[in-house]
Amino acid sequence: MSEKSYLEKLFSLEGKVVIFTGAAGGIGSELCEGLAKAGAAIALCDINKERLEELKAKIVEAGGNASTHLLNVMDKNNIKTCVDEVVGQYGHIDVLVNCAGINKREGILDVEEETYDRIMDINLKGVFLVSQAVGHYMRTQNYGSIINIGSHNTGWVLGGCSVYAATKSGIVALTKAQAVEWAKFNIRANAISPGHIQTPLTTVTWQHPQRSKYLLDRIAMNRPGYPEDIVGTCILLASDASAYITGCEYRVDGGCIAGGQPWPYDTKY
Ligand SMILES: NC(=O)c1ccc[n+]([C@@H]2O[C@H](COP(=O)([O-])OP(=O)(O)OC[C@H]3O[C@@H](n4cnc5c(N)ncnc54)[C@H](O)[C@@H]3O)[C@@H](O)[C@H]2O)c1
Repeated sequence: MSEKSYLEKLFSLEGKVVIFTGAAGGIGSELCEGLAKAGAAIALCDINKERLEELKAKIVEAGGNASTHLLNVMDKNNIKTCVDEVVGQYGHIDVLVNCAGINKREGILDVEEETYDRIMDINLKGVFLVSQAVGHYMRTQNYGSIINIGSHNTGWVLGGCSVYAATKSGIVALTKAQAVEWAKFNIRANAISPGHIQTPLTTVTWQHPQRSKYLLDRIAMNRPGYPEDIVGTCILLASDASAYITGCEYRVDGGCIAGGQPWPYDTKY
């Protein structure tokens, strides 16, 4: 077997069906395009119908297979309808990516209960309920890989991100619970925690002179992450190349948690 076909076989998503929440977003759309290029059929789910249709057209134009499904992860009935629709259309679901998420940056003393509930409902309860609905199908088919999108804030909390950080840390705990409870159903669960990625969610931060400098000082690689930086990890976790990996949190952060930019030290280089 040639090296190319060996690698293609190891990481191929040919024949796999992915259900993807938050598909219309900055990170979501890039991951969906990457998963489709690796051979998966993608059920693109989001509240943003227009962006979903644009993304589907792009994937199909590139020779991939995708369908669009309106999904509000805050609505339990909608989750059930959507998952049933995807199973009805494809017959099975091999991979779930929970990527839908929001944030509102404000201090703990400023957070209104309504804001708290909204971030919790979308970021954490939504992941729980979508995973539960898809988990039922994965259990009956005795196969599945769940990829939950965490955050830099699970390890190092930025000011003004209290609720968001709590939801994302909850996602990592939930990922471990899924791995532990569902291993017997041959379902794996892992989290990807991106660092500081440039997307519509973070444009305001990257355009802010002090905040963008603050971030760059804390990234060893001294540049923002881009959605395409996360594609490889997502393909790994969706594919059978990661058959023995479950319950893990993968950081894709350009060396943030490792320590960021080094302090001044003596060196010849
Ligand atoms: N951008 C970053 O630096 C960064 C870093 C770490 C983690 N993340 C996480 O990555 C994920 C994607 O972030 P992004 O930067 O691409 O943001 P984004 O705002 O571009 O995308 C988020 C997507 O979620 C969708 N969404 C929002 N509410 C929804 C709901 N109720 N039901 C279904 N879909 C809904 C939005 O329509 C949007 O398409 C989020 O979970 C975010 O927390 C982002």
